[in-house]
Amino acid sequence: MWDEVRAAAHAAQSRRITDLFATDPDRAATFSVAADGMLLDCSKTTMTSADRDTLLGLIDAQGLAARRAAMFAGQPVNETEHRAVLHTALRDLTSEALTLAGTDILSDIRATRARMADFADQVRADGWRDVVNIGIGGSHLGPEMATRALSPYHDGPRCHFVSNVDGADIADTLHALDPARTLFIVASKTFTTVETMTNAATARDWLVSRGCDAGAQMAAVSSATDKTAKWGIDPARVFGFGDYVGGRYSVWGPVGLALMIAIGPHRFEEFLAGAAAMDAHFRTATPARNMPVMLALTGLWHHQGCGHATRAVLPYDQRLARLPAYLQQLEMESNGKGVTMSGAPPPAPTGPVVWGEPGTGGQHAFYQLIHQGTQVVPCEFMVAAEGHEPALAHHHRLLVANCLAQSEALMRGRSEAEAREMLRAAGLTGAELDRQAAHRAFPGNRPSTTLVYDRLTPHRLGQIIALYEHRVFVEGVALGINSFDQWGVELGKALATEMAPLIDGADASAKDGSTRALLAFLRANRR
Ligand code: F6P
Repeated sequence: MWDEVRAAAHAAQSRRITDLFATDPDRAATFSVAADGMLLDCSKTTMTSADRDTLLGLIDAQGLAARRAAMFAGQPVNETEHRAVLHTALRDLTSEALTLAGTDILSDIRATRARMADFADQVRADGWRDVVNIGIGGSHLGPEMATRALSPYHDGPRCHFVSNVDGADIADTLHALDPARTLFIVASKTFTTVETMTNAATARDWLVSRGCDAGAQMAAVSSATDKTAKWGIDPARVFGFGDYVGGRYSVWGPVGLALMIAIGPHRFEEFLAGAAAMDAHFRTATPARNMPVMLALTGLWHHQGCGHATRAVLPYDQRLARLPAYLQQLEMESNGKGVTMSGAPPPAPTGPVVWGEPGTGGQHAFYQLIHQGTQVVPCEFMVAAEGHEPALAHHHRLLVANCLAQSEALMRGRSEAEAREMLRAAGLTGAELDRQAAHRAFPGNRPSTTLVYDRLTPHRLGQIIALYEHRVFVEGVALGINSFDQWGVELGKALATEMAPLIDGADASAKDGSTRALLAFLRANRR
């Protein structure tokens, strides 16, 4: 089936997206998907209905329906770690039961959520001024991104996020805070991650050295209750979750505690409800009208089919500034794999490089390459119909205009003949006109998708994140890989542990020449 996808993408090389619109007046409707107040337009791509059907055939042959059912039912679809994958259970707001190894996990999840809500209400009522979440990867990117995205809903303490083991991160954060009015959440699923534990120890020292009761000012989000106890964190302030929730899929549960404190438990439930609505859509909508499926098909078409190496996520929403970073972990840690579930090499390249920045800033930085560079970068735009600042509606109008104009410009381009005409109208003639025309031409035919929604509410944000989670799942199924492990990060971690003593002068002779030279320079240049 992959050969068919490759052949279809090869045949599409000579196709113009504008011609597809010219010959099919219904193209926008055919390649758009509506779900619960959002619209995803996938029509500005070179994909035809026949190509879409080829891709649908592929994911069908790869057993998407059965894999999806297995995931939602709690079967161990994370095969290398023998784990169920049930982040969806964290946002299941029904009163149903879901039994895993003899335990009703939904009842456990509800109980933990209720404890989180009590704690969040208490923190909000007690006059804490600042909350600092210390975590990394999935224990950082989700809550950081979502807390920023939902700033119009903040009515609790200010939330800060410390992640990097670079002391600059925690030093710059603590600099402006009052120790007596600062609460720390140490978020680490394993409670062993060296960056997080180092930052947590620094936070504890900061409190103690300023005469504060560190025990009363620290909470933990972790499944490792033995380790949180050893660390002296009161079990009443420890919030755990099952091993059926992967780090990068964990914002829906205790890892979202900082967000819950910022926006309140009620808004947090709206966030969960948005994701649950996307889960229901993903499970029930027919494939060609299924938003995560269609987003996945465009991803497969562009990367595995057409060979475009990267994809840009371009939210025209300043509050989604951290969404590209969040999606980098979600997509690249999930699907950046070199082996299929059976141990064979993957049938096609895995995982495009995901990158991006909010519009319109990016337009004045890297869009030049997207429009005229020699490599094609499929773009994923998103924009709300309105912002949260009614008094600044004129800003939003321009924001939307820019978003739509960019996808149009990428698709249409400007031919050299059009460029010549434009230059002629500006008074250029002869050799100067000839010289300038090529620089003013744009190839066009550059693909994009656009996601539009009314406003970035907690519900919409929940939907958007769940949309991307399920897109990653569908792409993983198409490739036959396990999207839920991350063995590739282990070697670097092990070597870092080994490397630390060498910084202080331990024998480095077993290291390669480059590493030895770098160590020598760094040792020599420390004060
Ligand atoms: O980088 C690997 C990883 O395991 C991520 O998957 C995870 O989100 C992150 O480290 C943090 O892990 P923990 O929550 O256990 O500190």
